[in-house]
Amino acid sequence: MEFSIKSTSPGQTKSGCAVVGVFESRKLSTAAAALDRDAKGHLKSIVERGDMDGKLGMTLVLHNVPNVASERVMLVGLGPESGFRDKQYREAVAAAIKTLNATGATDASLHLTEIGSVKRDVKWRVANAVAVAGETVYRFDKMKSKTDEARPALRRLALGAGDKSALRRATAGLEEGLAIAHGVSLAKDLGNLPANVCTPTYLAEQSRELAKRYRMKVTVIESEDMEKLGMGALLSVARGSAQPPKLIVLEHRGGAKSQKPVALVGKGITFDTGGISLKPAPEMDEMKFDMCGAASVLGTLKAVGEMRLPINVVGIIPTTENMPGGRATKPGDIVTTMSGQTVEILNTDAEGRLILCDALTFAGRFEPAAVIDIATLTGACVIALGHVASGLFANDDALARELLTAADAAFDRAWHMPLWDDYQEQLKSNFADFANIGGRPAGSVTAACFLARFAKKFRWAHLDIAGTAWKSGKEKGATGRPVPLLTQFLLTRAGRGK
Ligand code: BES
Ligand code: MN
Ligand code: ZN
Repeated sequence: MEFSIKSTSPGQTKSGCAVVGVFESRKLSTAAAALDRDAKGHLKSIVERGDMDGKLGMTLVLHNVPNVASERVMLVGLGPESGFRDKQYREAVAAAIKTLNATGATDASLHLTEIGSVKRDVKWRVANAVAVAGETVYRFDKMKSKTDEARPALRRLALGAGDKSALRRATAGLEEGLAIAHGVSLAKDLGNLPANVCTPTYLAEQSRELAKRYRMKVTVIESEDMEKLGMGALLSVARGSAQPPKLIVLEHRGGAKSQKPVALVGKGITFDTGGISLKPAPEMDEMKFDMCGAASVLGTLKAVGEMRLPINVVGIIPTTENMPGGRATKPGDIVTTMSGQTVEILNTDAEGRLILCDALTFAGRFEPAAVIDIATLTGACVIALGHVASGLFANDDALARELLTAADAAFDRAWHMPLWDDYQEQLKSNFADFANIGGRPAGSVTAACFLARFAKKFRWAHLDIAGTAWKSGKEKGATGRPVPLLTQFLLTRAGRGK
Protein backbone atom coordinates (compact mmCIF):
# COMPACT_ATOMS: atom_id res chain seq x y z
CA MET A 1 0.00 0.00 0.00
CA GLU A 2 1.09 3.55 -0.73
CA PHE A 3 0.85 6.21 1.94
CA SER A 4 0.87 10.00 1.71
CA ILE A 5 0.23 13.01 3.93
CA LYS A 6 -2.52 15.54 3.21
CA SER A 7 -3.24 18.78 5.00
CA THR A 8 -6.46 19.67 3.18
CA SER A 9 -9.71 19.67 5.17
CA PRO A 10 -11.63 16.36 5.37
CA GLY A 11 -14.54 17.61 3.25
CA GLN A 12 -12.24 18.88 0.51
CA THR A 13 -9.81 15.95 0.36
CA LYS A 14 -10.69 13.97 -2.73
CA SER A 15 -10.58 10.20 -2.34
CA GLY A 16 -12.61 7.01 -2.58
CA CYS A 17 -13.51 7.35 1.09
CA ALA A 18 -12.95 9.97 3.79
CA VAL A 19 -12.64 8.39 7.24
CA VAL A 20 -13.66 10.39 10.32
CA GLY A 21 -14.39 9.47 13.92
CA VAL A 22 -17.45 9.68 16.19
CA PHE A 23 -17.24 9.41 19.99
CA GLU A 24 -19.74 7.57 22.11
CA SER A 25 -22.86 9.59 22.95
CA ARG A 26 -22.79 10.65 19.31
CA LYS A 27 -20.19 13.40 19.54
CA LEU A 28 -18.45 14.15 16.26
CA SER A 29 -14.64 14.39 16.37
CA THR A 30 -13.10 17.66 15.18
CA ALA A 31 -12.48 16.29 11.68
CA ALA A 32 -15.99 14.82 11.49
CA ALA A 33 -17.47 18.14 12.62
CA ALA A 34 -15.45 20.01 9.96
CA LEU A 35 -16.66 17.62 7.28
CA ASP A 36 -20.20 17.94 8.60
CA ARG A 37 -20.08 21.72 8.17
CA ASP A 38 -19.36 21.20 4.46
CA ALA A 39 -22.12 18.56 4.33
CA LYS A 40 -24.56 20.96 6.01
CA GLY A 41 -25.36 18.70 8.97
CA HIS A 42 -25.80 15.44 7.01
CA LEU A 43 -23.56 13.45 9.40
CA LYS A 44 -25.18 14.89 12.48
CA SER A 45 -28.62 13.88 11.25
CA ILE A 46 -27.48 10.30 10.54
CA VAL A 47 -25.82 10.00 13.91
CA GLU A 48 -28.91 11.37 15.64
CA ARG A 49 -31.07 8.82 13.85
CA GLY A 50 -29.11 6.23 15.84
CA ASP A 51 -27.22 4.52 13.01
CA MET A 52 -23.83 5.16 14.59
CA ASP A 53 -23.59 5.25 18.36
CA GLY A 54 -19.82 5.70 18.50
CA LYS A 55 -18.95 2.31 20.06
CA LEU A 56 -15.23 1.68 19.62
CA GLY A 57 -14.52 -0.13 16.36
CA MET A 58 -18.03 0.23 14.88
CA THR A 59 -18.00 1.52 11.28
CA LEU A 60 -20.64 2.96 8.95
CA VAL A 61 -20.01 3.74 5.27
CA LEU A 62 -22.14 6.53 3.72
CA HIS A 63 -22.59 7.26 0.04
CA ASN A 64 -23.56 10.50 -1.67
CA VAL A 65 -22.79 12.79 1.25
CA PRO A 66 -23.56 16.28 -0.13
CA ASN A 67 -20.78 18.83 -0.79
CA VAL A 68 -17.98 16.42 0.05
CA ALA A 69 -15.14 15.73 -2.41
CA SER A 70 -14.82 12.01 -1.55
CA GLU A 71 -17.05 9.33 -3.06
CA ARG A 72 -17.80 7.87 0.37
CA VAL A 73 -17.57 8.87 4.00
CA MET A 74 -16.82 6.34 6.71
CA LEU A 75 -17.78 7.01 10.31
CA VAL A 76 -15.67 5.12 12.84
CA GLY A 77 -16.76 4.67 16.46
CA LEU A 78 -14.13 5.86 18.94
CA GLY A 79 -15.78 4.89 22.24
CA PRO A 80 -16.13 7.36 25.14
CA GLU A 81 -14.01 10.48 24.62
CA SER A 82 -12.73 10.41 28.21
CA GLY A 83 -11.28 6.92 27.68
CA PHE A 84 -9.80 7.56 24.25
CA ARG A 85 -6.07 6.71 24.57
CA ASP A 86 -3.29 5.21 22.48
CA LYS A 87 -4.78 1.73 22.43
CA GLN A 88 -8.26 2.92 21.42
CA TYR A 89 -6.71 5.04 18.69
CA ARG A 90 -4.91 2.03 17.24
CA GLU A 91 -8.06 -0.09 17.45
CA ALA A 92 -10.11 2.54 15.67
CA VAL A 93 -7.55 2.75 12.85
CA ALA A 94 -7.50 -1.06 12.51
CA ALA A 95 -11.32 -1.17 12.33
CA ALA A 96 -11.36 1.55 9.67
CA ILE A 97 -8.77 -0.22 7.51
CA LYS A 98 -10.58 -3.55 7.80
CA THR A 99 -13.86 -2.00 6.63
CA LEU A 100 -12.11 0.02 3.90
CA ASN A 101 -10.68 -3.19 2.48
CA ALA A 102 -14.22 -4.53 2.13
CA THR A 103 -15.55 -1.45 0.28
CA GLY A 104 -14.99 -0.79 -3.40
CA ALA A 105 -12.62 2.09 -2.65
CA THR A 106 -9.05 1.69 -3.85
CA ASP A 107 -7.92 4.85 -2.11
CA ALA A 108 -8.98 6.66 1.05
CA SER A 109 -8.12 9.58 3.28
CA LEU A 110 -7.84 8.80 6.97
CA HIS A 111 -8.60 11.69 9.27
CA LEU A 112 -8.45 9.78 12.55
CA THR A 113 -4.87 11.09 12.66
CA GLU A 114 -6.37 14.49 13.41
CA ILE A 115 -8.01 13.48 16.67
CA GLY A 116 -6.69 15.81 19.34
CA SER A 117 -7.92 13.67 22.23
CA VAL A 118 -4.90 11.34 22.17
CA LYS A 119 -2.16 13.15 24.07
CA ARG A 120 0.29 12.47 21.28
CA ASP A 121 1.77 14.63 18.60
CA VAL A 122 1.09 14.22 14.92
CA LYS A 123 4.30 12.25 14.34
CA TRP A 124 3.19 9.56 16.77
CA ARG A 125 -0.34 9.53 15.38
CA VAL A 126 0.84 9.12 11.79
CA ALA A 127 3.54 6.55 12.63
CA ASN A 128 1.05 4.44 14.58
CA ALA A 129 -1.66 4.71 11.94
CA VAL A 130 0.77 3.56 9.25
CA ALA A 131 2.11 0.68 11.36
CA VAL A 132 -1.42 -0.48 12.24
CA ALA A 133 -2.65 -0.09 8.64
CA GLY A 134 0.32 -2.09 7.33
CA GLU A 135 -0.44 -4.80 9.87
CA THR A 136 -4.13 -4.92 8.98
CA VAL A 137 -3.73 -5.19 5.19
CA TYR A 138 -1.00 -7.85 5.37
CA ARG A 139 -1.74 -10.97 3.32
CA PHE A 140 0.42 -14.00 2.61
CA ASP A 141 -0.55 -15.41 -0.76
CA LYS A 142 2.88 -15.96 -2.27
CA MET A 143 2.34 -19.73 -2.20
CA LYS A 144 -1.17 -19.74 -3.71
CA SER A 145 -1.50 -20.41 -7.43
CA LYS A 146 -4.14 -17.69 -7.76
CA THR A 147 -4.91 -14.79 -5.47
CA ASP A 148 -8.55 -13.91 -4.85
CA GLU A 149 -8.91 -10.39 -6.21
CA ALA A 150 -12.71 -10.28 -6.03
CA ARG A 151 -12.65 -6.69 -4.80
CA PRO A 152 -10.22 -3.93 -5.60
CA ALA A 153 -8.49 -3.84 -2.23
CA LEU A 154 -7.26 -0.57 -0.73
CA ARG A 155 -4.12 0.60 -2.51
CA ARG A 156 -3.52 4.20 -1.45
CA LEU A 157 -4.06 5.80 1.92
CA ALA A 158 -3.69 9.53 2.59
CA LEU A 159 -3.27 10.54 6.21
CA GLY A 160 -4.66 13.83 7.42
CA ALA A 161 -2.05 16.00 9.12
CA GLY A 162 -4.47 18.69 10.27
CA ASP A 163 -2.68 21.74 8.91
CA LYS A 164 0.44 22.71 6.96
CA SER A 165 2.56 23.41 10.02
CA ALA A 166 2.31 19.72 10.96
CA LEU A 167 3.51 18.42 7.58
CA ARG A 168 7.14 17.96 8.54
CA ARG A 169 6.43 16.01 11.74
CA ALA A 170 3.75 14.00 9.97
CA THR A 171 6.20 13.04 7.22
CA ALA A 172 8.73 11.92 9.82
CA GLY A 173 5.99 9.79 11.37
CA LEU A 174 5.15 8.33 7.99
CA GLU A 175 8.75 7.27 7.40
CA GLU A 176 9.03 5.67 10.81
CA GLY A 177 5.67 3.90 10.58
CA LEU A 178 6.51 2.60 7.11
CA ALA A 179 9.90 1.29 8.17
CA ILE A 180 8.29 -0.63 11.05
CA ALA A 181 5.49 -1.93 8.82
CA HIS A 182 8.04 -3.15 6.25
CA GLY A 183 10.15 -4.80 8.93
CA VAL A 184 7.09 -6.55 10.39
CA SER A 185 6.00 -7.69 6.90
CA LEU A 186 9.41 -9.18 6.16
CA ALA A 187 9.41 -11.04 9.48
CA LYS A 188 5.91 -12.36 8.77
CA ASP A 189 6.79 -13.45 5.23
CA LEU A 190 9.89 -15.34 6.35
CA GLY A 191 7.94 -16.96 9.19
CA ASN A 192 5.03 -17.97 6.97
CA LEU A 193 7.15 -19.51 4.22
CA PRO A 194 7.23 -23.32 4.44
CA ALA A 195 10.41 -25.03 5.58
CA ASN A 196 11.04 -26.55 2.14
CA VAL A 197 11.46 -22.98 0.82
CA CYS A 198 12.78 -21.14 3.86
CA THR A 199 15.94 -23.15 4.52
CA PRO A 200 19.14 -21.90 6.17
CA THR A 201 20.47 -21.24 2.65
CA TYR A 202 17.36 -19.17 1.84
CA LEU A 203 17.80 -17.08 5.00
CA ALA A 204 21.42 -16.46 4.00
CA GLU A 205 20.32 -15.32 0.52
CA GLN A 206 17.71 -12.99 1.99
CA SER A 207 20.35 -11.54 4.29
CA ARG A 208 22.64 -10.90 1.34
CA GLU A 209 19.82 -9.06 -0.39
CA LEU A 210 19.11 -6.93 2.67
CA ALA A 211 22.80 -6.11 2.92
CA LYS A 212 22.95 -5.04 -0.70
CA ARG A 213 19.84 -2.88 -0.48
CA TYR A 214 20.80 -1.10 2.73
CA ARG A 215 24.58 -1.12 2.35
CA MET A 216 25.28 -3.41 5.24
CA LYS A 217 28.15 -5.82 5.62
CA VAL A 218 27.18 -9.48 5.42
CA THR A 219 29.21 -12.58 6.27
CA VAL A 220 27.93 -16.14 6.04
CA ILE A 221 29.91 -18.68 8.01
CA GLU A 222 29.72 -22.23 6.64
CA SER A 223 30.07 -25.48 8.58
CA GLU A 224 33.81 -25.91 7.87
CA ASP A 225 34.46 -22.56 9.51
CA MET A 226 32.06 -23.35 12.35
CA GLU A 227 34.26 -26.36 13.02
CA LYS A 228 37.38 -24.19 13.03
CA LEU A 229 35.65 -21.84 15.46
CA GLY A 230 34.79 -24.77 17.72
CA MET A 231 31.01 -24.38 17.48
CA GLY A 232 30.32 -27.93 18.60
CA ALA A 233 26.85 -27.17 19.95
CA LEU A 234 25.54 -25.49 16.79
CA LEU A 235 27.03 -28.26 14.63
CA SER A 236 25.49 -30.97 16.81
CA VAL A 237 21.99 -29.71 15.96
CA ALA A 238 22.73 -29.67 12.22
CA ARG A 239 24.08 -33.23 12.11
CA GLY A 240 20.77 -34.91 11.23
CA SER A 241 19.92 -32.55 8.38
CA ALA A 242 20.69 -32.65 4.66
CA GLN A 243 20.54 -28.84 4.60
CA PRO A 244 23.84 -27.10 5.36
CA PRO A 245 23.74 -24.89 8.48
CA LYS A 246 24.74 -21.22 8.28
CA LEU A 247 25.81 -18.55 10.72
CA ILE A 248 24.74 -15.23 9.24
CA VAL A 249 26.31 -11.94 10.36
CA LEU A 250 24.74 -8.66 9.16
CA GLU A 251 26.29 -5.35 10.21
CA HIS A 252 24.56 -1.98 10.05
CA ARG A 253 27.14 0.69 10.78
CA GLY A 254 25.10 3.87 11.20
CA GLY A 255 26.90 5.19 14.28
CA ALA A 256 30.39 6.42 15.04
CA LYS A 257 33.24 3.96 14.47
CA SER A 258 34.01 3.95 18.18
CA GLN A 259 30.40 3.20 19.18
CA LYS A 260 29.91 -0.32 20.48
CA PRO A 261 27.18 -2.16 18.59
CA VAL A 262 23.96 -3.68 19.83
CA ALA A 263 23.98 -7.35 18.84
CA LEU A 264 20.69 -9.04 17.97
CA VAL A 265 20.94 -12.84 17.97
CA GLY A 266 18.00 -14.72 16.42
CA LYS A 267 17.17 -18.43 16.66
CA GLY A 268 16.92 -19.74 13.11
CA ILE A 269 15.67 -23.32 13.30
CA THR A 270 13.97 -23.51 9.90
CA PHE A 271 12.22 -26.71 11.01
CA ASP A 272 12.19 -28.33 14.43
CA THR A 273 11.21 -32.01 14.34
CA GLY A 274 12.74 -32.43 17.78
CA GLY A 275 15.50 -34.59 16.28
CA ILE A 276 15.90 -38.07 17.81
CA SER A 277 13.73 -36.81 20.71
CA LEU A 278 11.05 -36.58 18.03
CA LYS A 279 8.03 -34.35 18.55
CA PRO A 280 4.48 -35.78 18.29
CA ALA A 281 2.77 -35.38 14.89
CA PRO A 282 -0.14 -33.02 15.73
CA GLU A 283 0.67 -29.39 14.91
CA MET A 284 4.25 -30.26 14.00
CA ASP A 285 3.80 -28.10 10.87
CA GLU A 286 3.97 -25.09 13.20
CA MET A 287 7.63 -25.84 13.83
CA LYS A 288 8.33 -24.05 10.54
CA PHE A 289 7.91 -20.94 12.72
CA ASP A 290 10.93 -21.94 14.80
CA MET A 291 13.02 -19.39 12.87
CA CYS A 292 10.86 -16.42 13.88
CA GLY A 293 13.64 -15.10 16.13
CA ALA A 294 15.90 -14.96 13.07
CA ALA A 295 13.08 -13.38 11.06
CA SER A 296 12.65 -10.68 13.70
CA VAL A 297 16.35 -9.84 13.51
CA LEU A 298 16.13 -9.46 9.72
CA GLY A 299 12.87 -7.48 9.99
CA THR A 300 14.40 -5.14 12.56
CA LEU A 301 17.53 -4.65 10.46
CA LYS A 302 15.34 -3.82 7.48
CA ALA A 303 13.55 -1.14 9.53
CA VAL A 304 16.87 0.18 10.84
CA GLY A 305 18.33 0.26 7.33
CA GLU A 306 15.30 2.00 5.88
CA MET A 307 15.42 4.69 8.58
CA ARG A 308 19.22 4.92 8.29
CA LEU A 309 19.36 4.91 12.10
CA PRO A 310 22.56 6.49 13.41
CA ILE A 311 23.51 3.48 15.52
CA ASN A 312 25.62 0.35 15.11
CA VAL A 313 23.69 -2.92 15.04
CA VAL A 314 24.95 -6.44 14.37
CA GLY A 315 22.50 -9.20 13.52
CA ILE A 316 23.73 -12.73 14.22
CA ILE A 317 21.67 -15.68 13.01
CA PRO A 318 22.59 -19.29 13.70
CA THR A 319 20.38 -21.30 11.36
CA THR A 320 19.83 -25.01 10.73
CA GLU A 321 17.13 -27.66 10.63
CA ASN A 322 16.67 -30.00 13.61
CA MET A 323 16.17 -33.45 12.06
CA PRO A 324 16.51 -37.08 13.09
CA GLY A 325 18.78 -39.32 11.00
CA GLY A 326 21.67 -41.75 11.01
CA ARG A 327 24.14 -39.01 11.82
CA ALA A 328 21.91 -37.08 14.18
CA THR A 329 22.89 -36.25 17.75
CA LYS A 330 21.60 -38.80 20.28
CA PRO A 331 20.35 -38.23 23.83
CA GLY A 332 23.35 -38.53 26.10
CA ASP A 333 25.82 -37.22 23.53
CA ILE A 334 28.27 -34.67 24.94
CA VAL A 335 29.48 -31.70 22.87
CA THR A 336 32.05 -28.97 23.43
CA THR A 337 30.72 -25.47 22.84
CA MET A 338 32.71 -22.57 21.37
CA SER A 339 33.13 -21.26 24.93
CA GLY A 340 34.92 -24.49 25.92
CA GLN A 341 32.11 -25.56 28.26
CA THR A 342 30.79 -29.09 27.66
CA VAL A 343 27.10 -29.94 27.43
CA GLU A 344 25.31 -33.25 27.84
CA ILE A 345 22.42 -33.27 25.37
CA LEU A 346 19.72 -35.12 27.29
CA ASN A 347 16.97 -34.04 24.89
CA THR A 348 17.69 -33.19 21.25
CA ASP A 349 14.46 -31.16 21.17
CA ALA A 350 16.08 -28.53 23.41
CA GLU A 351 18.09 -27.45 20.35
CA GLY A 352 17.45 -23.70 20.34
CA ARG A 353 19.77 -23.09 23.28
CA LEU A 354 22.43 -25.21 21.59
CA ILE A 355 22.60 -23.06 18.48
CA LEU A 356 22.22 -19.85 20.48
CA CYS A 357 24.99 -20.60 22.98
CA ASP A 358 27.66 -20.67 20.26
CA ALA A 359 26.14 -17.59 18.61
CA LEU A 360 26.30 -15.75 21.95
CA THR A 361 29.96 -16.65 22.40
CA PHE A 362 30.57 -15.46 18.85
CA ALA A 363 28.70 -12.20 19.58
CA GLY A 364 31.29 -11.42 22.26
CA ARG A 365 33.82 -10.79 19.47
CA PHE A 366 32.03 -7.56 18.55
CA GLU A 367 32.57 -6.04 22.01
CA PRO A 368 28.84 -5.35 22.10
CA ALA A 369 27.19 -2.62 24.18
CA ALA A 370 24.38 -5.14 24.69
CA VAL A 371 23.35 -8.49 23.29
CA ILE A 372 19.69 -9.40 22.85
CA ASP A 373 18.73 -12.86 21.71
CA ILE A 374 15.28 -13.59 20.36
CA ALA A 375 14.02 -17.16 20.25
CA THR A 376 10.95 -19.38 20.02
CA LEU A 377 12.66 -21.24 22.82
CA THR A 378 10.23 -23.05 25.10
CA GLY A 379 6.69 -24.40 25.19
CA ALA A 380 6.89 -23.60 28.90
CA CYS A 381 6.95 -19.87 28.10
CA VAL A 382 3.62 -20.28 26.28
CA ILE A 383 2.20 -21.93 29.40
CA ALA A 384 3.54 -19.11 31.59
CA LEU A 385 2.57 -16.05 29.54
CA GLY A 386 0.23 -17.28 26.80
CA HIS A 387 0.16 -15.36 23.54
CA VAL A 388 0.16 -11.88 25.07
CA ALA A 389 3.65 -11.17 26.37
CA SER A 390 7.09 -12.35 25.32
CA GLY A 391 9.23 -13.60 28.21
CA LEU A 392 12.08 -11.25 29.04
CA PHE A 393 15.17 -12.42 30.92
CA ALA A 394 18.27 -10.31 31.50
CA ASN A 395 21.54 -10.26 33.41
CA ASP A 396 21.27 -6.45 33.68
CA ASP A 397 18.27 -4.66 35.19
CA ALA A 398 18.79 -1.39 33.32
CA LEU A 399 18.73 -3.26 30.00
CA ALA A 400 15.59 -5.13 31.07
CA ARG A 401 13.89 -1.84 31.94
CA GLU A 402 14.91 -0.31 28.63
CA LEU A 403 13.37 -3.25 26.76
CA LEU A 404 10.18 -3.20 28.84
CA THR A 405 9.74 0.51 28.14
CA ALA A 406 10.22 -0.10 24.42
CA ALA A 407 7.76 -3.01 24.57
CA ASP A 408 5.06 -0.83 26.15
CA ALA A 409 5.66 2.04 23.73
CA ALA A 410 5.44 -0.31 20.75
CA PHE A 411 2.36 -2.24 21.97
CA ASP A 412 4.50 -5.36 21.74
CA ARG A 413 4.35 -6.55 25.33
CA ALA A 414 7.07 -8.32 27.28
CA TRP A 415 7.16 -9.49 30.90
CA HIS A 416 10.24 -9.65 33.12
CA MET A 417 10.95 -13.21 34.28
CA PRO A 418 13.43 -14.31 36.98
CA LEU A 419 16.93 -15.55 36.24
CA TRP A 420 18.15 -16.33 39.76
CA ASP A 421 21.10 -18.69 40.15
CA ASP A 422 18.87 -20.91 42.32
CA TYR A 423 17.47 -22.35 39.09
CA GLN A 424 20.92 -23.26 37.73
CA GLU A 425 20.96 -26.42 39.89
CA GLN A 426 18.37 -27.99 37.61
CA LEU A 427 20.92 -28.12 34.78
CA LYS A 428 23.34 -30.36 36.70
CA SER A 429 24.92 -33.20 34.70
CA ASN A 430 26.78 -36.25 36.01
CA PHE A 431 28.92 -36.45 32.90
CA ALA A 432 29.48 -32.98 31.39
CA ASP A 433 29.73 -29.43 32.75
CA PHE A 434 25.94 -29.19 32.58
CA ALA A 435 22.92 -30.58 30.71
CA ASN A 436 20.80 -28.94 28.03
CA ILE A 437 17.52 -29.47 29.93
CA GLY A 438 16.40 -28.74 33.48
CA GLY A 439 13.21 -30.75 33.82
CA ARG A 440 9.60 -29.55 33.64
CA PRO A 441 9.47 -26.98 36.45
CA ALA A 442 10.17 -23.44 35.22
CA GLY A 443 11.18 -24.67 31.76
CA SER A 444 11.52 -21.20 30.26
CA VAL A 445 13.68 -20.06 33.20
CA THR A 446 16.11 -22.99 33.03
CA ALA A 447 16.42 -22.45 29.26
CA ALA A 448 17.36 -18.82 29.95
CA CYS A 449 19.74 -19.98 32.71
CA PHE A 450 21.48 -22.21 30.16
CA LEU A 451 21.99 -19.22 27.85
CA ALA A 452 23.15 -17.01 30.74
CA ARG A 453 26.21 -19.26 31.09
CA PHE A 454 27.34 -18.02 27.68
CA ALA A 455 26.57 -14.35 28.28
CA LYS A 456 28.72 -13.55 31.28
CA LYS A 457 31.01 -11.12 29.49
CA PHE A 458 28.41 -8.59 28.35
CA ARG A 459 25.03 -7.04 29.11
CA TRP A 460 22.52 -9.50 27.81
CA ALA A 461 18.80 -10.00 27.48
CA HIS A 462 16.80 -12.92 26.15
CA LEU A 463 13.30 -12.71 24.64
CA ASP A 464 11.38 -16.00 24.58
CA ILE A 465 8.83 -15.44 21.81
CA ALA A 466 7.41 -18.99 21.66
CA GLY A 467 3.93 -17.67 22.49
CA THR A 468 4.02 -14.40 20.58
CA ALA A 469 5.76 -15.05 17.25
CA TRP A 470 2.83 -16.75 15.56
CA LYS A 471 -0.86 -17.52 15.88
CA SER A 472 -2.41 -21.00 15.65
CA GLY A 473 -5.87 -22.03 14.54
CA LYS A 474 -8.01 -20.24 11.98
CA GLU A 475 -5.68 -17.25 11.83
CA LYS A 476 -2.53 -19.35 11.69
CA GLY A 477 0.42 -17.20 10.72
CA ALA A 478 3.47 -15.28 11.87
CA THR A 479 2.84 -12.06 13.83
CA GLY A 480 6.08 -10.23 13.06
CA ARG A 481 6.69 -9.79 16.80
CA PRO A 482 8.94 -8.57 18.34
CA VAL A 483 10.05 -6.33 15.45
CA PRO A 484 8.07 -3.35 16.86
CA LEU A 485 9.68 -3.81 20.30
CA LEU A 486 13.22 -4.15 18.94
CA THR A 487 12.85 -1.25 16.51
CA GLN A 488 11.50 0.98 19.29
CA PHE A 489 14.42 -0.03 21.50
CA LEU A 490 16.92 0.93 18.78
CA LEU A 491 15.04 4.15 17.91
CA THR A 492 15.35 5.23 21.54
CA ARG A 493 19.03 4.24 21.69
CA ALA A 494 19.62 6.28 18.53
CA GLY A 495 17.99 9.31 20.17
CA ARG A 496 14.89 9.18 17.99
CA GLY A 497 12.51 7.77 20.56
CA LYS A 498 10.09 10.68 20.54
N1 BES B 1 10.88 -24.74 19.33
C1 BES B 1 10.58 -25.39 20.54
C2 BES B 1 9.78 -24.53 21.50
C3 BES B 1 8.32 -24.38 21.19
C4 BES B 1 7.44 -25.42 21.44
C5 BES B 1 7.84 -23.18 20.75
C6 BES B 1 6.10 -25.24 21.19
C7 BES B 1 6.48 -23.00 20.52
C8 BES B 1 5.62 -24.03 20.73
C9 BES B 1 11.86 -25.80 21.27
O1 BES B 1 12.93 -26.12 20.46
C10 BES B 1 11.54 -27.00 22.07
O2 BES B 1 11.24 -28.00 21.50
N2 BES B 1 11.61 -26.87 23.38
C11 BES B 1 11.30 -27.93 24.27
C12 BES B 1 12.33 -27.93 25.37
C13 BES B 1 12.26 -29.13 26.26
C14 BES B 1 12.69 -30.38 25.52
C15 BES B 1 13.16 -28.91 27.44
C16 BES B 1 9.91 -27.67 24.84
O3 BES B 1 9.56 -26.53 25.11
O4 BES B 1 9.16 -28.65 24.97
MN1 MN C 1 12.91 -28.17 19.88
ZN1 ZN D 1 12.95 -25.31 18.60
